[in-house]
Amino acid sequence: MIDLRSDTVTKPSDKMRAAMAAAEVGDDVYGEDPTVIRLQEQAAEIFEKEAALFVPTGSMGNQIAVKLHTRPGQEVIIEARGHIFNYEMGTPAVLSGVMMRPVSSGDGSGHLTWDEIASALHIGQPYYTSPTGLICLENSHNFAGGSVMTVEHCADICTHAHAAGLPVHMDGARIFNAAAALGSSVADLTRHCDSVQFCLSKALGAPVGSVLVGSKDFIAEARVWRKRLGGGMRQVGILAAAGMIALEDGPKRLHEDHANAKALAVGLTDIPGVAIDVESVATNIVIFDITGTGKSSAEIVAALKDAGILAIGFGDVIRMVTHCNVSAEDVGVTVKYLRTYFA
Ligand SMILES: Cc1ncc(COP(=O)(O)O)c(C=O)c1O
Repeated sequence: MIDLRSDTVTKPSDKMRAAMAAAEVGDDVYGEDPTVIRLQEQAAEIFEKEAALFVPTGSMGNQIAVKLHTRPGQEVIIEARGHIFNYEMGTPAVLSGVMMRPVSSGDGSGHLTWDEIASALHIGQPYYTSPTGLICLENSHNFAGGSVMTVEHCADICTHAHAAGLPVHMDGARIFNAAAALGSSVADLTRHCDSVQFCLSKALGAPVGSVLVGSKDFIAEARVWRKRLGGGMRQVGILAAAGMIALEDGPKRLHEDHANAKALAVGLTDIPGVAIDVESVATNIVIFDITGTGKSSAEIVAALKDAGILAIGFGDVIRMVTHCNVSAEDVGVTVKYLRTYFA
């Protein structure tokens, strides 16, 4: 199978499996797992923030951040296609008692300007609105096709947000992809964010795990909420060991995934009825519109599956994601299949 559904499907490398088998471990609920401690220290250093916390999933990292930054009854501003709003099962309402205020990005990029955010803010007046408590950003933006937000753009939003007394959380599930695409460091891309969640288990290739990064006080409180949510994981150095390799080696090869995604997008351009904006493919995610083909995304995804290729269809679009278990040859096979299928 060529699995293009997501970069979450990657299998741990032999190097990761060996490191997992050899990992030094301790009880992480007691703060005694040396491999987890190393991973957290390394993450904090890379992001140039005070502290970090290993969490089981990106969703848990995001939701702990929402919980810590907000009070019940507040609103959280997010771009309309953002993961925290669409794919985290209403947890901000369930866990934090807050409402999401989705705002569409005017240019379709998935990245709001400060003016767009400002137009949705409720600060103080009138008293009968739900006050804004938090701004959530996403870089790269999954459902906007892996689009990226620059250092300057993020800094601008954070500066205005802080002046308005609002914290900013970055859902950086794929922040290393954004960094590779922009030629910026993840530290610069998140410099002014109050918290960042990044996934080890997506493009970086680890089997499990995410890291929440922020100030010492924030992370100390996040540790309490992780345990409360059932995320205290004991001898979890066996997972952090794979995470360490993902963090060290993963970022170095992301340009290959991005080149494969671009080749895939270019390969799709001359298929009649398929609409794809090649220029907008900045990272490892390719989303193309199939309205003009006369077929449904479900039909196309089923045909791909019969041909040994896995993709995801949402309404009139299909998403394909490149990752470390997808080669340039696999992309070639996929393009060839789709050309034949639509011919
Ligand atoms: C942008 C983004 N944020 C958060 C998550 C959640 O990560 P997890 O599946 O580890 O909970 C995902 C998962 O696909 C994602 O794409």
